[in-house]
Amino acid sequence: MRFDEAFFDRIIDRRNTDCEKWDDRGVMDPDGIPLWVADMDFACAPPIVEAIRKRAEHPCFGYTIDNPADDEALIGFWRRRHGLEIQPGEITMLPCVVTGLKACVRALTQPGDSVAIVTPVYGPFYGSIKSNGRIVRAVSLKRDEETGRYDLDFGAMQKALQEGAKLVMLCSPHNPASRLWKKEELTRLCELAEEYGVPMVCDEIHADFVYAPGKFVSILSIPEGRNRAVMLCSASKTFNVAGLQQAAMVCMNPDLLEKLRKELNAAGVMCGNTFALLAARAAYTQGDDWLDGLIAYLDGTRKLLADWVAAYVPKAKMSPIEATYLAWLDMRAYGLTCEEMARKCRKAKVALTGGTFFGEEGEGFMRVNFACPRSQLKEGIKRLGAALEEQ
Ligand SMILES: Cc1ncc(COP(=O)(O)O)c(C=O)c1O
Repeated sequence: MRFDEAFFDRIIDRRNTDCEKWDDRGVMDPDGIPLWVADMDFACAPPIVEAIRKRAEHPCFGYTIDNPADDEALIGFWRRRHGLEIQPGEITMLPCVVTGLKACVRALTQPGDSVAIVTPVYGPFYGSIKSNGRIVRAVSLKRDEETGRYDLDFGAMQKALQEGAKLVMLCSPHNPASRLWKKEELTRLCELAEEYGVPMVCDEIHADFVYAPGKFVSILSIPEGRNRAVMLCSASKTFNVAGLQQAAMVCMNPDLLEKLRKELNAAGVMCGNTFALLAARAAYTQGDDWLDGLIAYLDGTRKLLADWVAAYVPKAKMSPIEATYLAWLDMRAYGLTCEEMARKCRKAKVALTGGTFFGEEGEGFMRVNFACPRSQLKEGIKRLGAALEEQ
């Protein structure tokens, strides 16, 4: 099968499949266009469907044992795609990355500790800290108002560590700023964490969505990171099977790993979902051509999106997209709050993610998920523009 434009241009009706993105009536009517929840409106790689179908034909779905093939599939994928060497003993399977974020907060800090996060950032970073009785220490990204590009603020991170932050959590590549962190930036962050003796958590769930000439660098490929970082990744995000739930935690430091496994064990987090593991194995071993086709499609879409935003939402400013399939739009020129924009969008039958989901710095911003057929995206952006112009 060819994973070309025609494959990804195909409209698939996902309504009435208990699909959060399409079926959440609290957010959008049935004829709305969803550009919000971060999954993709594309068919997944055929080997995944085949693996699930084959297994479903067997009528017994009892307990699953760990199969070394699952670790090997993940190891092979990360070696091939990112040049990272992982050993089987360093991997812990998880149902999802958010479980990993929470387990890290619980295992690596104490109640009342502060945790440094680089903001604005994916909402559950805040939730994983607050819901466990820890304190969010927001370290704001520096925004270049001219270009909309964001940079790490190392001075502010150092201040947070000086003031006692006990853990650093980073999203890499960054959601929602669409930044691909460079090796030098990650190295500097790791050196700071080393200076203050704190562990790090690096959510690398968007590692595979990177556009040329950029090249993803894992925190675990940096010497200072290998010893103090926990990396979280997920087959379900890369291969668009989030409903199956399959993620992994990779930790190369035995002391941190022991604490994390103890925490997961105490919470009863086990990972033995038959379908999810098989799907991930098929994806990691037979999904490369689908993934290459996907990235080529998204790369083309990212360029078109810039044109459509300029044409239909002219007062919006889009941050440069180096990675992820998420675009961060500065809508402040429209003079509306996120809540007001959401109301107008609902009326115009389009749904985006409001910037405040990513923290208070997101007020007046919106995030667009552009991983959908281009015709759908273009219509959604047109509706967004019309919504904002309406008095
Ligand atoms: C940065 C980031 N981390 C984690 C997640 C959620 O991952 P999971 O479904 O594996 O918990 C998302 C989903 O959009 C995300 O963008």
